[in-house]
Amino acid sequence: MSNGWELSAQAWIDSIGERGDWAREHVLDPVMLGRVTAGRFGRALDVGCGEGRFCRMLNAAGVAATGIDPTGPLLEVARQRDPSGDYRSGNAEQLEFEAASFDLVVSYLTLIDIVDFRKAIGEMARVLKPGGSLLIANLTGFTSAGAEQGWVRDDAGRHLHFPVDRYLDEFPFWFEWEGIRIENWHRPLAAYMAAFLESGLYLTFFAEPGPISGDAAQQERFRRVPWFVVMEWRRPSVG
Ligand SMILES: C[S@@+](CC[C@H](N)C(=O)[O-])C[C@H]1O[C@@H](n2cnc3c(N)ncnc32)[C@H](O)[C@@H]1O
Repeated sequence: MSNGWELSAQAWIDSIGERGDWAREHVLDPVMLGRVTAGRFGRALDVGCGEGRFCRMLNAAGVAATGIDPTGPLLEVARQRDPSGDYRSGNAEQLEFEAASFDLVVSYLTLIDIVDFRKAIGEMARVLKPGGSLLIANLTGFTSAGAEQGWVRDDAGRHLHFPVDRYLDEFPFWFEWEGIRIENWHRPLAAYMAAFLESGLYLTFFAEPGPISGDAAQQERFRRVPWFVVMEWRRPSVG
């Protein structure tokens, strides 16, 4: 069954623009790019690259990026916007690359989209070189557990609180905004952590980033709810 990405591709492209959506621009990009520039990576794989924005940012930072994504219309735009780039059709659960191919593997808000995330994390770890990094930005389980319902508001539209429910379960839900309608997955944080640990990786960076700029009311909302987690996991060096 479709996860909604093919039908939502144009709305996604329109909403993301070149600067990214609000959360990418004001919350996530600064942390993600900070890890990239701190790492001196040569070759990177962006898993679930979408229309290629972060691959272009990696290339601009001097890291040679390959992007993979299963959604054809997003890949087409990635190739149009970066004709000399390397964009391939593929799924995270079965990567076409040989073991130990990349210094850096990125998953930028894609784990929540991937059905078999345990297999995908195993694959991302497999294609990492020894000493290489797996850089993850993900929606937190605290948020995905209530994302379908979203903010509870009062009659005047003021944001009262954000619900959390069925936290320890794993379940899919449909998420809709700005003409985009996609299926995402809720999983508790421990499920992801166990998958990284079972793939033989160790954690070198962990953040729950908040906004560093942007509209004040929006900043306040992004401080009240723990939307994102950024983690860097490393594959041990040999010897
Ligand atoms: C929220 S978008 C993020 C795109 C991009 N990383 C960004 O931050 O702009 C999620 C992406 O995951 C992709 N995706 C969905 N299922 C996937 C899978 N099984 N393997 C890899 N990517 C997948 C979608 O096609 C979509 O491009």
